[in-house]
Amino acid sequence: MKVVDLPFVRKPTRSLCLTALSLACVSSAFAQSSSPPLTPDQRADQLIKRMSLDDMHHMVQSYNTMIPQQPPGGIGTAGYVPALPALGIPALQENDAGIGVHNYPVGKDKNGQPTLVRGVAGDATPLPSLLGLAATWNPQIAYAGGSMIGGEAHSQGINMLLAGGINLAREPRNGRNFEYLGEDPLLAARMDGAEIRGIQSQHVLSTIKHYALNAQETNRLTVSSNIDERAMRESDLLAFEMAIEDGHPASVMCGYNKINHVYDCSNSHLLNDVLKHDWKFPGWVMTDWGADHGVNDALDGTDQVSGIDLGSGFSIGSMSSSFGAPLTQALANGTVPRSRLQDMVHRILRSMYAGGLFADPPVIKPLNADVDALVSQHAAEQAIVLLKNDHAQLPLSANVKTIAIIGGHADAGVLSGGGSAQVWPIGGPAIPASQPPVQNVWQWMVYDPSSPMKALQKMMPGVTVRYDDGSDPTRAAALAKSSDVAIVFATQWMCEAIDAPNLSLPNGQDALIDAVAAANPHAVMVLENGGPVKMPWLSKVGAVVEAWYPGARGGEAIAGVLTGKVNPSGRLPITFPQDEQQLPRPQLTDALDVDYNIEGAAVGYKWFDEKKLEPLFPFGFGLSYSHFGYSDLHVNTKGDRVTVSFKVTNLGDRAGMDTPQIYVGMPANSGEAPRRLGGFEKVALQPKESRTVTVTIDPRLLAVFDVQGDQWQVAGGSYPIQVGRSSRDLVLNGTAAVAAARIAP
Ligand code: BGC
Repeated sequence: MKVVDLPFVRKPTRSLCLTALSLACVSSAFAQSSSPPLTPDQRADQLIKRMSLDDMHHMVQSYNTMIPQQPPGGIGTAGYVPALPALGIPALQENDAGIGVHNYPVGKDKNGQPTLVRGVAGDATPLPSLLGLAATWNPQIAYAGGSMIGGEAHSQGINMLLAGGINLAREPRNGRNFEYLGEDPLLAARMDGAEIRGIQSQHVLSTIKHYALNAQETNRLTVSSNIDERAMRESDLLAFEMAIEDGHPASVMCGYNKINHVYDCSNSHLLNDVLKHDWKFPGWVMTDWGADHGVNDALDGTDQVSGIDLGSGFSIGSMSSSFGAPLTQALANGTVPRSRLQDMVHRILRSMYAGGLFADPPVIKPLNADVDALVSQHAAEQAIVLLKNDHAQLPLSANVKTIAIIGGHADAGVLSGGGSAQVWPIGGPAIPASQPPVQNVWQWMVYDPSSPMKALQKMMPGVTVRYDDGSDPTRAAALAKSSDVAIVFATQWMCEAIDAPNLSLPNGQDALIDAVAAANPHAVMVLENGGPVKMPWLSKVGAVVEAWYPGARGGEAIAGVLTGKVNPSGRLPITFPQDEQQLPRPQLTDALDVDYNIEGAAVGYKWFDEKKLEPLFPFGFGLSYSHFGYSDLHVNTKGDRVTVSFKVTNLGDRAGMDTPQIYVGMPANSGEAPRRLGGFEKVALQPKESRTVTVTIDPRLLAVFDVQGDQWQVAGGSYPIQVGRSSRDLVLNGTAAVAAARIAP
């Protein structure tokens, strides 16, 4: 099925033999004579034969060079493994990239604004938040975004991105949900896998993170995520498993938290048994920054300790870390065998070969900022979810002559999320950046300079557009009253290391919206938020546009949807609850133990289905200016392979995109939530056009995880197959007669 054209996808970079000492050169020379080229594993083995113990030891620690004075070879990245020139091994420059190439604020200038120290140019283009990217339900968009940020990294001397955040949204108040891809393992994995493939197409390695169950920021360094094996294999771990298969990330970053009281990076079960044994992951495990807990982590499956703090000093090698002096000692006394160190180094080097790091080193060149911004804009346009549109209030009609724009700094820009995913925009923030009262140097509230108001003015010449900052609800209501339409921009700033206290919009914005809605029956809400929020005013407003953090050209994307230049096609990747009482944990806990067995594998919509709760907006929901119909369902089964095909038709009079979703019903006695997302496809259709969509369901989505047997088990029987517009709007019904099967993980 052809989806949407993406004119801006970068071409994969071509391998060139640039490094004289590179074994890639040797192997390509072989290839031209007759022997088959060496595999990345063979190359790594050959190189390791030439490495001393010190050389190998050198590879298993990275240094934090986010300091004003750089060590030799440092460019200001979060993780730096210096080159070993005698062996032709390039440096690893590992830079954060939740939504774009992170540029680091360190220190402040005389105006209280941060100074950036990351070497090279420092310019970078932010995509929409990853939650927004997930709302596109379009892996091609994720791939294009990944290749855009991979390309920006490559042209700035960076050859590894700390990207690929895929923690399932178990906790809607989690401050980092905007860095992740929602609540469903299949959707998150397909989007993450595509983003990682995009990054790595540019010869820039990617991580996938944070492995695993890193579901809240409160007590993030100490909290234990407690959950049964079966539940985690069917939920959070399944997301990692499928994304790793799809994206082949070079490295898995183990998280800060504990699982069942064992730290992620000391968790032999998670790292050795599941990741390396069951999933046969060939890459390396790097710790999150400061997430190492002693030299035994090496035996538990960790391969590299990340981001050793250089303080103000330069002398790499003298710093202490779990894999510094303690590893030297453990190798000397045999507690960590040399073969284990070789394995750690093998995993790093084979991934560097596989990713093209030897053959295609970064080439410093200026960004093509306009083209990159268009990639971001396309993503934002498909990310925006139209949640409500009574009486076709949107798109704005040609009869509208006066518009009131209220709040959210919409006259200047769009909000972005804070923390290590932050991208300091080209040309600087739209308004001076600010910080929370208690803060770290990297926590900033930044508005990207892409004003929805200015974009709207441009798209609607002749219309009077007036702005009120929303600080005084009475004044804002007066402006709303004297305008044909009032558009309120509501914001919820989220940031790494800070969870939201609840699901309410902060700073009295609900009262502002109430006042505006009372003054003007045509109130439109635009949300820029990091996760679900409550909407006590929902019945009083005409339309609601969920814009997430929309990135470099978010203003243009929002204005495009408001005016109808863009037909909205986003679908929710996360359930919006009515209130906190509907959640598995109504209170965000600050205890050191979080009980995830309450919902087990039933994360998000599965919990709402299991408990028969009516959400505010269900998973998968989103409106369009068109309307789509489904028909002609066929379900074909061959053993445990279920293939579903059906017809989707654009019944409206506008071209648009739809995302039909296939849900699989689980047997009542399975102990599972009633249904799971089994597949989806984003389809672009002209008015009255029909297409047949065909989707094969991964058999693990019909299975339960058998812990004793360490395998997936499909119970033979009849499985309901439903096709719908969301997890709560199921239109076509069929069944699949599935044979019993066992599947090795
Ligand atoms: C975050 C990671 C990030 C790392 C390096 C940590 O605090 O949890 O996501 O990659 O810092 O900046």
